Amino acid sequence: MRVLGHPGTLLGLLLLLVAPGEPTTGSPQAKVDCICHNGDYVICDWGSQQKPVHNYSFYFWFEELSKPSECKDYIQKDGLNVACHISNYDLFNSMGMHLKDSQGQTVVHQELRLSNRVRPGRPFNLTLSNLSNHQLLLTWKTPYKIPECLEHVIRYKSNKDTEFMEHSIVNSLKFQIPSVDPEKRYTFYVKSKRNNNCATTDLWSEESEPAFWGKEDMSPSLLTSIKTIVIPLGSFLILILLLLALLRMERVWVVLMPRIPNPSKKFEDLFTAYQGNFSEWAGVSKDVVETFKPNYYEDICAITELLPSGGYLSASSEPTAKSGGPPDPLPDPPPKASPDPAALTT
Ligand SMILES: *[C@@H]1O[C@H](CO)[C@@H](O)[C@H](O)[C@H]1NC(C)=O
Ligand SMILES: *[C@@H]1O[C@H](CO)[C@@H](O)[C@H](O)[C@H]1NC(C)=O
Ligand SMILES: *[C@@H]1O[C@H](CO)[C@@H](O)[C@H](O)[C@H]1NC(C)=O
Repeated sequence: MRVLGHPGTLLGLLLLLVAPGEPTTGSPQAKVDCICHNGDYVICDWGSQQKPVHNYSFYFWFEELSKPSECKDYIQKDGLNVACHISNYDLFNSMGMHLKDSQGQTVVHQELRLSNRVRPGRPFNLTLSNLSNHQLLLTWKTPYKIPECLEHVIRYKSNKDTEFMEHSIVNSLKFQIPSVDPEKRYTFYVKSKRNNNCATTDLWSEESEPAFWGKEDMSPSLLTSIKTIVIPLGSFLILILLLLALLRMERVWVVLMPRIPNPSKKFEDLFTAYQGNFSEWAGVSKDVVETFKPNYYEDICAITELLPSGGYLSASSEPTAKSGGPPDPLPDPPPKASPDPAALTT
């Protein structure tokens, strides 16, 4: 349909919307997307994500005038054709394609240039080597056969960073990291796509496995095992120990420990055979005993206190006075100043 101007476009759109039964040039569900995987094979897909409404058949051709040929290698899902695997393809000519429903009606007619639909394989074997002055060299490999056609994005950060740093590299399989801190732990990823010299595409490869460099921090699995095993086990052991200590104090001490022997049995001799002579009973020699005897004598002095009532309170050094015996007979002890015998005994 040729577009002649605004009124014509509008009319055409109206006709498309209103006209019933007109063969649609592509329903929203039916759209074919072809991807050339790493330059090895092509998959054209119309229904692997969303179940197609028909059991479509797929026809494709590579030159403008060549005859369409049907797909020889369908990929099916729930018994319906959903994609086609193509191993013989032409990257540099446009590819035409038809989807036909079970009545043979063409429901999709598309063309695309496969050279823009190449998705390189995922980079692998990331290797880090030390250069001088805290510089690193990251190298990697690509499964794609024309590495000169690739552009790579290196994504890296240290364990102290929150954001990744990104660098783009064209036509090279190495990247020099300007400055790294060996006290940190770095993580690197690389992904690739066909560069602007070879294609117009945003089909990035999958990102590589991570590569690490620097001081190893405790691995997350070790941390979780500490959390899930060591901490509960530790708590359990502490609980057991506490229980044991409690048992020992409460019961085990009484039941298992032998009773403290009555000392009177052993001391009996001291009071019977030795008549209370401790040194003889203990077997200490006479000379030693002599040295313990005091070799000086002090006069016993009697302290007298003048009582307010005029009498005297005599504090004799005799033990009887202190041990709560009856106080020395006083002529008339005034009740106020007299020490309470009960208070003295306690
Ligand atoms: C769809 O078509 C394929 C052949 O293109 C056939 O093998 C398959 O059985 C068909 N599925 C249904 C549900 O008819
Ligand atoms: C990865 O690279 C290292 C060093 O460049 C090499 O020794 C090793 O064989 C490579 N591995 C693979 C799978 O290519
Ligand atoms: C590179 O440097 C890091 C950090 O200083 C060190 O742990 C590692 O062993 C070095 N590797 C080589 C191959 O020298």
